[in-house]
Amino acid sequence: MNIIFLGPPGAGKGTQAKILIEKYGIPQISTGDMLREHVAKGTELGLKAKEYMEKGQLVPDEIILGMVKERLSQEDAQKGFILDGFPRTVAQAEALDKILEEMGKRIEYVLALIVPDEELVIRLTGRRTCKNCGMMYHIKFKPPKEEGKCDVCGGELYQRPDDNEETVRNRLKVYHEQTAPLIEYYKKKGVLFEVDGSKSIEEITQQLINILEKK
Ligand code: AP5
Repeated sequence: MNIIFLGPPGAGKGTQAKILIEKYGIPQISTGDMLREHVAKGTELGLKAKEYMEKGQLVPDEIILGMVKERLSQEDAQKGFILDGFPRTVAQAEALDKILEEMGKRIEYVLALIVPDEELVIRLTGRRTCKNCGMMYHIKFKPPKEEGKCDVCGGELYQRPDDNEETVRNRLKVYHEQTAPLIEYYKKKGVLFEVDGSKSIEEITQQLINILEKK
């Protein structure tokens, strides 16, 4: 299963990817998580990426493409993968097609989560993430049992620096201008499946499983 999760910031790509990787035993490849790891470690790549991420802008392709190519060639991605947050532009999608062609692979499913912008602002400004295991929460929709503490590992919950309202609105603008055209790109290839992402987390997971297990 070679899958792409497409959708605006806050649509639930990460939430659903984390559920499906458990079910299907394939890795989640999140360019956002990879970049945040570089930022946290203070690598050269991380230092370059940080200035774009803080403003809600896209990180340049030359940084992203090498990172993704290297990750896709790793052993655990050979039986399938879920790409989360990549590709984000038509240029990235075309580059991905080339990378996969060289590997004798292709994308089978593009799962597009559709959610209205105003709901996304509420979701992102209320999101909390575990510093230790990456588990995601929402102060209203998916609160942890104990405030500020991860249910799974007891780690400390934090708010992403790009989850303030001003940056979120810029990320949404960037999504509509640069990423939304990918819906048409993958529709033409016959691999796009649109899902109503405003339902509950459980209902969305079920819709996604229905799509993946129908073929
Ligand atoms: P990235 O980390 O990819 O962030 P994003 O695309 O903005 O998406 P998010 O992770 O914010 O949202 P999500 O859809 O995963 O939602 P989640 O499941 O967490 O990118 C960050 C930055 O890195 C970019 O701005 C850019 O600078 C850079 N970058 C990354 N990839 C790049 C690329 N390819 N090229 C260039 N630059 C790149 O859910 C959100 C919240 O909602 C959570 O609190 C969750 O609990 C809650 N929630 C989820 N589903 C539901 C539901 N159904 N109902 C109610 N609440 C829900």
